[in-house]
Amino acid sequence: MPPFNPASEIDMTRDRPFTLDHRTDGVAVVTLDRPEIHNAFDDRLIAELTLALEALGADDQVRALLLTGRGKSFSAGADLNWMRRCADYGEDENLKDARALAKLMSTLDRLPKPTIAKVNGAALGGGVGLVCCCDIVVAADHARFGTTEVKLGIMPSVIGPYVIRAVGARASRRIMLTGERFDAMEAQRLGLVHEVTAADALDQAAEAIIAELLTGGPAAVKATKALVRDLAGLPISDDVIDDTAKRIAALRVTPEAKEGLGAFLEKRSPGWRG
Ligand code: COA
Repeated sequence: MPPFNPASEIDMTRDRPFTLDHRTDGVAVVTLDRPEIHNAFDDRLIAELTLALEALGADDQVRALLLTGRGKSFSAGADLNWMRRCADYGEDENLKDARALAKLMSTLDRLPKPTIAKVNGAALGGGVGLVCCCDIVVAADHARFGTTEVKLGIMPSVIGPYVIRAVGARASRRIMLTGERFDAMEAQRLGLVHEVTAADALDQAAEAIIAELLTGGPAAVKATKALVRDLAGLPISDDVIDDTAKRIAALRVTPEAKEGLGAFLEKRSPGWRG
Protein backbone atom coordinates (compact mmCIF):
# COMPACT_ATOMS: atom_id res chain seq x y z
CA MET A 1 0.00 0.00 0.00
CA PRO A 2 1.38 3.46 -0.87
CA PRO A 3 1.99 5.96 1.93
CA PHE A 4 -0.76 8.33 2.97
CA ASN A 5 -0.96 11.64 1.17
CA PRO A 6 -3.41 13.89 3.04
CA ALA A 7 -4.04 16.23 0.14
CA SER A 8 -5.11 13.55 -2.28
CA GLU A 9 -6.32 10.73 -0.10
CA ILE A 10 -8.74 12.12 2.49
CA ASP A 11 -12.10 10.72 1.52
CA MET A 12 -14.49 13.37 2.82
CA THR A 13 -17.49 11.23 1.91
CA ARG A 14 -16.63 8.75 4.69
CA ASP A 15 -17.63 9.39 8.28
CA ARG A 16 -14.94 11.36 10.02
CA PRO A 17 -12.90 9.47 12.60
CA PHE A 18 -13.64 12.19 15.16
CA THR A 19 -16.39 14.71 15.77
CA LEU A 20 -15.83 18.42 16.29
CA ASP A 21 -18.39 20.55 18.11
CA HIS A 22 -18.07 24.29 18.51
CA ARG A 23 -19.83 25.31 21.72
CA THR A 24 -21.26 28.76 22.23
CA ASP A 25 -18.85 29.37 25.12
CA GLY A 26 -15.89 29.10 22.72
CA VAL A 27 -14.93 25.55 23.68
CA ALA A 28 -14.18 23.22 20.77
CA VAL A 29 -14.90 19.60 21.66
CA VAL A 30 -13.02 16.95 19.70
CA THR A 31 -14.29 13.43 20.31
CA LEU A 32 -12.29 10.58 18.83
CA ASP A 33 -14.92 8.46 17.16
CA ARG A 34 -13.70 5.00 16.25
CA PRO A 35 -15.15 3.22 19.29
CA GLU A 36 -15.13 -0.21 17.61
CA ILE A 37 -11.33 -0.18 17.81
CA HIS A 38 -11.08 1.92 20.98
CA ASN A 39 -10.33 5.15 19.08
CA ALA A 40 -7.04 3.88 17.73
CA PHE A 41 -5.61 6.21 15.13
CA ASP A 42 -4.50 5.51 11.60
CA ASP A 43 -3.01 7.70 8.89
CA ARG A 44 -6.37 9.21 8.00
CA LEU A 45 -7.28 10.18 11.56
CA ILE A 46 -3.78 11.59 12.11
CA ALA A 47 -3.95 13.75 8.98
CA GLU A 48 -7.48 15.02 9.55
CA LEU A 49 -7.01 15.69 13.24
CA THR A 50 -3.81 17.62 12.56
CA LEU A 51 -5.62 19.81 10.02
CA ALA A 52 -8.52 20.34 12.43
CA LEU A 53 -6.18 21.31 15.28
CA GLU A 54 -4.32 23.76 13.06
CA ALA A 55 -7.63 25.41 12.16
CA LEU A 56 -8.75 25.54 15.81
CA GLY A 57 -5.44 27.06 16.82
CA ALA A 58 -5.89 29.87 14.29
CA ASP A 59 -9.56 30.51 15.13
CA ASP A 60 -10.00 33.51 17.46
CA GLN A 61 -13.47 32.32 18.43
CA VAL A 62 -12.03 29.16 20.02
CA ARG A 63 -10.97 29.69 23.63
CA ALA A 64 -10.23 26.12 24.71
CA LEU A 65 -10.07 22.58 23.36
CA LEU A 66 -11.60 19.59 25.08
CA LEU A 67 -10.34 16.24 23.78
CA THR A 68 -12.09 12.98 24.64
CA GLY A 69 -13.08 9.63 23.18
CA ARG A 70 -16.39 8.00 22.35
CA GLY A 71 -17.17 4.62 23.88
CA LYS A 72 -15.18 2.55 26.30
CA SER A 73 -11.72 4.02 25.68
CA PHE A 74 -10.01 7.37 25.29
CA SER A 75 -7.57 6.01 22.72
CA ALA A 76 -5.81 2.68 22.24
CA GLY A 77 -3.00 4.50 20.42
CA ALA A 78 -1.85 3.56 16.95
CA ASP A 79 -4.21 1.43 14.89
CA LEU A 80 -2.31 -1.84 14.96
CA ASN A 81 -3.72 -2.95 11.58
CA TRP A 82 -2.25 0.20 10.08
CA MET A 83 1.02 -0.41 11.94
CA ARG A 84 1.19 -3.92 10.51
CA ARG A 85 0.65 -2.56 6.99
CA CYS A 86 3.49 -0.09 7.63
CA ALA A 87 5.86 -3.04 7.97
CA ASP A 88 5.52 -3.51 4.19
CA TYR A 89 6.44 0.10 3.46
CA GLY A 90 9.98 1.17 2.67
CA GLU A 91 12.00 3.25 5.12
CA ASP A 92 11.12 6.54 3.40
CA GLU A 93 7.43 5.81 3.55
CA ASN A 94 7.66 4.80 7.20
CA LEU A 95 9.51 8.00 7.96
CA LYS A 96 6.82 10.07 6.27
CA ASP A 97 4.14 8.28 8.29
CA ALA A 98 6.01 8.65 11.57
CA ARG A 99 6.55 12.34 10.87
CA ALA A 100 2.82 12.77 10.37
CA LEU A 101 2.20 11.34 13.86
CA ALA A 102 4.97 13.54 15.26
CA LYS A 103 3.26 16.54 13.65
CA LEU A 104 -0.05 15.63 15.27
CA MET A 105 1.58 15.47 18.70
CA SER A 106 3.47 18.74 18.26
CA THR A 107 0.41 20.52 16.86
CA LEU A 108 -1.62 19.50 19.91
CA ASP A 109 1.24 20.30 22.25
CA ARG A 110 1.77 23.76 20.78
CA LEU A 111 -1.88 24.68 20.32
CA PRO A 112 -2.09 28.34 21.39
CA LYS A 113 -5.19 27.69 23.54
CA PRO A 114 -5.64 25.69 26.71
CA THR A 115 -6.30 22.01 26.07
CA ILE A 116 -8.07 19.58 28.39
CA ALA A 117 -7.99 15.81 27.98
CA LYS A 118 -11.07 14.09 29.41
CA VAL A 119 -9.88 10.52 29.70
CA ASN A 120 -13.04 8.42 29.62
CA GLY A 121 -11.28 5.03 29.51
CA ALA A 122 -8.08 3.32 28.41
CA ALA A 123 -5.26 5.54 27.12
CA LEU A 124 -2.50 3.38 25.67
CA GLY A 125 0.56 4.02 23.52
CA GLY A 126 -0.15 7.08 21.39
CA GLY A 127 -3.22 7.68 23.57
CA VAL A 128 -0.82 8.46 26.41
CA GLY A 129 1.01 10.74 23.97
CA LEU A 130 -2.19 12.74 23.36
CA VAL A 131 -2.74 12.96 27.12
CA CYS A 132 0.78 14.29 27.67
CA CYS A 133 0.33 16.93 24.97
CA CYS A 134 -2.73 18.39 26.72
CA ASP A 135 -2.38 21.09 29.37
CA ILE A 136 -4.82 19.64 31.88
CA VAL A 137 -5.92 16.03 32.26
CA VAL A 138 -8.91 14.66 34.13
CA ALA A 139 -9.49 10.90 34.12
CA ALA A 140 -12.23 8.49 35.11
CA ASP A 141 -11.13 6.24 37.95
CA HIS A 142 -11.51 3.11 35.80
CA ALA A 143 -9.18 4.44 33.07
CA ARG A 144 -6.00 2.49 32.50
CA PHE A 145 -2.78 3.79 31.05
CA GLY A 146 0.34 2.31 29.54
CA THR A 147 3.12 2.94 27.06
CA THR A 148 2.80 -0.63 25.79
CA GLU A 149 4.87 -0.26 22.62
CA VAL A 150 7.74 -2.58 23.57
CA LYS A 151 5.26 -5.41 24.07
CA LEU A 152 4.47 -5.05 20.36
CA GLY A 153 8.10 -4.93 19.31
CA ILE A 154 8.03 -1.18 18.67
CA MET A 155 8.87 1.80 20.87
CA PRO A 156 7.26 4.97 22.27
CA SER A 157 9.47 7.18 20.17
CA VAL A 158 7.34 9.99 18.79
CA ILE A 159 5.42 10.34 22.07
CA GLY A 160 8.64 10.00 24.07
CA PRO A 161 9.46 13.70 24.52
CA TYR A 162 5.99 14.48 25.83
CA VAL A 163 5.82 11.48 28.17
CA ILE A 164 9.29 12.16 29.56
CA ARG A 165 8.38 15.82 30.08
CA ALA A 166 5.18 14.82 31.90
CA VAL A 167 6.46 12.13 34.25
CA GLY A 168 10.26 12.61 34.17
CA ALA A 169 13.04 10.33 32.99
CA ARG A 170 12.96 8.08 36.08
CA ALA A 171 9.31 7.08 35.81
CA SER A 172 9.62 6.95 32.00
CA ARG A 173 12.33 4.31 32.28
CA ARG A 174 9.98 2.08 34.21
CA ILE A 175 6.75 2.58 32.27
CA MET A 176 8.37 2.58 28.84
CA LEU A 177 10.71 -0.36 29.44
CA THR A 178 8.10 -2.61 31.04
CA GLY A 179 5.13 -1.47 28.94
CA GLU A 180 3.06 -2.22 32.05
CA ARG A 181 -0.47 -0.95 32.44
CA PHE A 182 -1.41 1.14 35.44
CA ASP A 183 -4.54 2.69 36.86
CA ALA A 184 -5.69 6.29 37.06
CA MET A 185 -4.51 6.79 40.63
CA GLU A 186 -1.01 5.71 39.64
CA ALA A 187 -1.22 7.99 36.59
CA GLN A 188 -2.05 10.84 38.93
CA ARG A 189 0.81 9.92 41.25
CA LEU A 190 3.18 9.98 38.26
CA GLY A 191 1.95 13.40 37.18
CA LEU A 192 0.33 12.15 33.97
CA VAL A 193 -3.13 13.09 35.22
CA HIS A 194 -4.19 16.09 37.30
CA GLU A 195 -7.49 14.83 38.63
CA VAL A 196 -9.24 11.47 38.97
CA THR A 197 -13.01 11.21 39.38
CA ALA A 198 -15.75 8.61 39.36
CA ALA A 199 -16.89 7.96 35.79
CA ASP A 200 -20.25 9.64 36.40
CA ALA A 201 -18.50 12.78 37.71
CA LEU A 202 -16.05 13.08 34.81
CA ASP A 203 -18.05 15.58 32.73
CA GLN A 204 -18.65 17.75 35.77
CA ALA A 205 -14.96 17.73 36.68
CA ALA A 206 -13.94 18.70 33.13
CA GLU A 207 -16.58 21.44 33.00
CA ALA A 208 -15.37 22.89 36.32
CA ILE A 209 -11.85 23.16 34.88
CA ILE A 210 -13.16 24.73 31.67
CA ALA A 211 -15.25 27.23 33.64
CA GLU A 212 -12.12 28.25 35.52
CA LEU A 213 -10.12 28.57 32.27
CA LEU A 214 -12.76 30.80 30.72
CA THR A 215 -12.43 33.31 33.55
CA GLY A 216 -8.95 34.20 32.28
CA GLY A 217 -8.33 36.81 29.59
CA PRO A 218 -7.88 34.93 26.28
CA ALA A 219 -4.66 36.75 25.34
CA ALA A 220 -3.31 36.37 28.89
CA VAL A 221 -4.00 32.63 28.84
CA LYS A 222 -2.32 32.30 25.44
CA ALA A 223 0.73 34.28 26.59
CA THR A 224 0.92 32.25 29.81
CA LYS A 225 0.88 28.96 27.90
CA ALA A 226 3.75 30.24 25.75
CA LEU A 227 5.58 31.38 28.91
CA VAL A 228 5.43 27.91 30.46
CA ARG A 229 6.49 26.24 27.22
CA ASP A 230 9.39 28.61 26.63
CA LEU A 231 10.73 28.62 30.20
CA ALA A 232 10.30 24.99 31.20
CA GLY A 233 13.66 23.40 31.85
CA LEU A 234 15.67 26.60 31.35
CA PRO A 235 18.11 27.74 34.03
CA ILE A 236 16.99 31.06 35.55
CA SER A 237 19.65 33.09 33.75
CA ASP A 238 19.83 36.87 33.40
CA ASP A 239 18.40 36.48 29.88
CA VAL A 240 15.43 34.54 31.21
CA ILE A 241 14.81 37.13 33.94
CA ASP A 242 14.91 39.93 31.36
CA ASP A 243 12.67 37.98 29.00
CA THR A 244 9.99 37.58 31.69
CA ALA A 245 10.09 41.33 32.43
CA LYS A 246 9.64 42.12 28.73
CA ARG A 247 6.71 39.72 28.40
CA ILE A 248 4.70 41.21 31.26
CA ALA A 249 5.59 44.76 30.21
CA ALA A 250 4.21 44.05 26.73
CA LEU A 251 1.03 42.45 28.07
CA ARG A 252 0.22 45.13 30.67
CA VAL A 253 -0.52 47.72 28.02
CA THR A 254 -2.93 45.59 25.98
CA PRO A 255 -6.64 46.47 25.91
CA GLU A 256 -7.32 43.10 27.55
CA ALA A 257 -5.10 43.88 30.53
CA LYS A 258 -6.64 47.35 30.88
CA GLU A 259 -10.07 45.76 30.84
CA GLY A 260 -9.11 43.06 33.35
CA LEU A 261 -7.47 45.41 35.84
CA GLY A 262 -10.21 48.03 35.39
CA ALA A 263 -12.95 45.45 35.90
CA PHE A 264 -11.39 44.27 39.16
CA LEU A 265 -11.07 47.79 40.55
CA GLU A 266 -14.58 48.74 39.39
CA LYS A 267 -15.98 45.51 40.92
CA ARG A 268 -17.49 44.23 37.65
CA SER A 269 -16.88 41.28 35.33
CA PRO A 270 -14.35 41.78 32.54
CA GLY A 271 -15.80 41.86 29.03
CA TRP A 272 -14.46 38.44 28.05
CA ARG A 273 -16.64 36.81 30.73
CA GLY A 274 -19.76 37.87 28.90
N1 COA B 1 -5.48 -0.92 16.96
C1 COA B 1 -6.37 -1.61 16.25
N2 COA B 1 -7.38 -2.31 16.80
C2 COA B 1 -7.46 -2.30 18.14
C3 COA B 1 -6.57 -1.60 18.94
C4 COA B 1 -5.53 -0.87 18.30
N3 COA B 1 -4.64 -0.14 18.97
N4 COA B 1 -6.91 -1.78 20.24
C5 COA B 1 -8.00 -2.57 20.23
N5 COA B 1 -8.33 -2.89 18.97
C6 COA B 1 -9.42 -3.75 18.50
C7 COA B 1 -9.20 -5.19 18.89
O1 COA B 1 -8.32 -5.83 17.99
C8 COA B 1 -10.60 -5.73 18.80
O2 COA B 1 -10.92 -5.99 17.44
P1 COA B 1 -11.92 -7.22 17.07
O3 COA B 1 -13.24 -6.81 17.66
O4 COA B 1 -11.88 -7.21 15.59
O5 COA B 1 -11.34 -8.42 17.71
C9 COA B 1 -11.44 -4.54 19.26
O6 COA B 1 -10.61 -3.39 19.16
C10 COA B 1 -11.90 -4.69 20.68
O7 COA B 1 -10.74 -4.91 21.48
P2 COA B 1 -10.72 -5.86 22.75
O8 COA B 1 -9.29 -6.11 23.11
O9 COA B 1 -11.58 -7.04 22.51
O10 COA B 1 -11.45 -4.93 23.83
P3 COA B 1 -11.21 -4.85 25.40
O11 COA B 1 -12.26 -3.94 25.92
O12 COA B 1 -11.05 -6.19 25.99
O13 COA B 1 -9.77 -4.11 25.57
C11 COA B 1 -8.09 -2.46 25.09
C12 COA B 1 -9.58 -2.80 25.08
C13 COA B 1 -7.92 -1.09 24.43
C14 COA B 1 -7.62 -2.40 26.54
C15 COA B 1 -7.30 -3.57 24.35
O14 COA B 1 -7.90 -3.76 23.08
C16 COA B 1 -5.85 -3.27 24.12
O15 COA B 1 -5.06 -3.45 25.01
N6 COA B 1 -5.47 -2.84 22.89
C17 COA B 1 -4.08 -2.66 22.52
C18 COA B 1 -3.67 -1.25 22.85
C19 COA B 1 -2.20 -1.00 22.66
O16 COA B 1 -1.33 -1.74 23.07
N7 COA B 1 -1.92 0.15 22.02
C20 COA B 1 -0.58 0.62 21.80
C21 COA B 1 -0.39 0.82 20.32
S1 COA B 1 1.21 1.46 20.01
